[in-house]
Amino acid sequence: MAAALLIILGAMALLQVDSLSDKKFLLLPPVNFTIKVTGLAQVLLSWEPNPDQEQKKVNLEYKVKINAPQEDDYETKNTESKCVTVLHKGFSASVQTILKNSQPLQESSWVSAELKAPPGSLGTSVVNLTCTTNTVASNSTDFWPYQISLHCTWLVGEEAPEDTQYFLYYRYGSWTEECKEYSKDPLNRNIACWFPRTFISGKGRESLAIHVNGSSKHATIKPFDQLFALHSIDRVNPPMNITANIEGTCLSIRWEKPVSAFPIHCFDYEVKIYNTRKGYYQTEKMMTNAFISVIDDVSKYSVQVRAAVSSSCRAMGLWSEWSQPIYVGNDEQKPSVEWLLIVLMATICFALLIFSFICRICHLWTKLFPPVPAPKSNIKDVFVSTYYEKTGSSETEFEVISYVEDAGFEILEDSVF
Ligand SMILES: *[C@@H]1O[C@H](CO)[C@@H](O)[C@H](O)[C@H]1NC(C)=O
Ligand SMILES: *[C@@H]1O[C@H](CO)[C@@H](O)[C@H](O)[C@H]1NC(C)=O
Ligand SMILES: *[C@@H]1O[C@H](CO)[C@@H](O)[C@H](O)[C@H]1NC(C)=O
Ligand SMILES: *[C@@H]1O[C@H](CO)[C@@H](O)[C@H](O)[C@H]1NC(C)=O
Repeated sequence: MAAALLIILGAMALLQVDSLSDKKFLLLPPVNFTIKVTGLAQVLLSWEPNPDQEQKKVNLEYKVKINAPQEDDYETKNTESKCVTVLHKGFSASVQTILKNSQPLQESSWVSAELKAPPGSLGTSVVNLTCTTNTVASNSTDFWPYQISLHCTWLVGEEAPEDTQYFLYYRYGSWTEECKEYSKDPLNRNIACWFPRTFISGKGRESLAIHVNGSSKHATIKPFDQLFALHSIDRVNPPMNITANIEGTCLSIRWEKPVSAFPIHCFDYEVKIYNTRKGYYQTEKMMTNAFISVIDDVSKYSVQVRAAVSSSCRAMGLWSEWSQPIYVGNDEQKPSVEWLLIVLMATICFALLIFSFICRICHLWTKLFPPVPAPKSNIKDVFVSTYYEKTGSSETEFEVISYVEDAGFEILEDSVF
């Protein structure tokens, strides 16, 4: 009986300890939560663990929730977190303490902080901002073998006063640069920008931050941020040194990889062959630097190749422009042997036909206009005619002779009709 009582008491004590430990682990939110702008379209969130939090043998972490401009949440062990996002709409985030791997999840209340949106009416910002990058091989004196240029264009905001001037900045990693080469509209407002070289990495995976702010005497110009994924704005160069040759019935095309920081295995290609005689296109996709096509007819071909960085090296982006067309082959029909034979046969038949026709005309002629009998004064003529009559085996010779000698006239009548 006493033993049973002891067990019950013990169990009760245990239960009490359990509920006590639950209370003890009441999680407290972090303190000193701040949001600091550390660059264009980049903020640093930082906080401190709550000094009143008992941390014995507990696995404390933090949950960060981004509320604006775009909702997101993640967990971290650190007490700070970098965040890349547009800031012209303001920024707000919350953080709480959580007990990792607790079931159900034990969590503290939230602490929040925010950055106010910069002043200015929305209509004063630039609109339709588009940017493209391009790779150029740099001069050998440069440390970097490739340079990335950047070109951006935009439209003036509808509510922007006429005296508005816009300024563009880019940030890539920790590098920030202001544009120095602007193009202007008729009101002298900047509407495009060109960076011949940048600190953008040719193979980089970080996003490119663009910030366009502005000034005007009559209004506050609201700045505008946009983040670009490099693969989606990179204008890949077309392949280089394209050659095409026809050997027999093989059209072989070769090319070299485009000017790019990406190595040779990082490219997909498309070859476009245009048969100018038949007027059709053949397009082939490939991963090698050569293509051989069997051609079965004689034609002039125009060959173009384009390239894209393949998905094995980065997210699939845009195709390059087509290379300048190169032409190969010949439009003119080269006569084939059979064709030659047919032509030859036809010519012979035709010649024979004409020949016999002429002969008949001649006969007819002699029939219609019988030659005036001439006195056989020339002994030589007779001699010749006799000679031919004896030796000539063909009718033709005979006929020709018969014209000379009127004696052949009767024979002629037999041969015609
Ligand atoms: C929070 O900030 C205050 C004022 O800057 C500072 O005195 C305090 O030590 C900070 N708390 C912690 C836990 O770092
Ligand atoms: C600007 O962008 C908007 C929406 O993205 C589009 O409807 C409009 O046609 C664009 N304007 C010009 C001039 O491209
Ligand atoms: C290379 O050097 C030449 C002459 O110094 C210059 O004109 C050209 O712009 C340079 N190219 C690049 C990509 O910097
Ligand atoms: C535009 O932004 C840049 C970079 O943040 C800043 O240095 C500059 O003062 C801003 N200009 C205006 C007019 O707001």
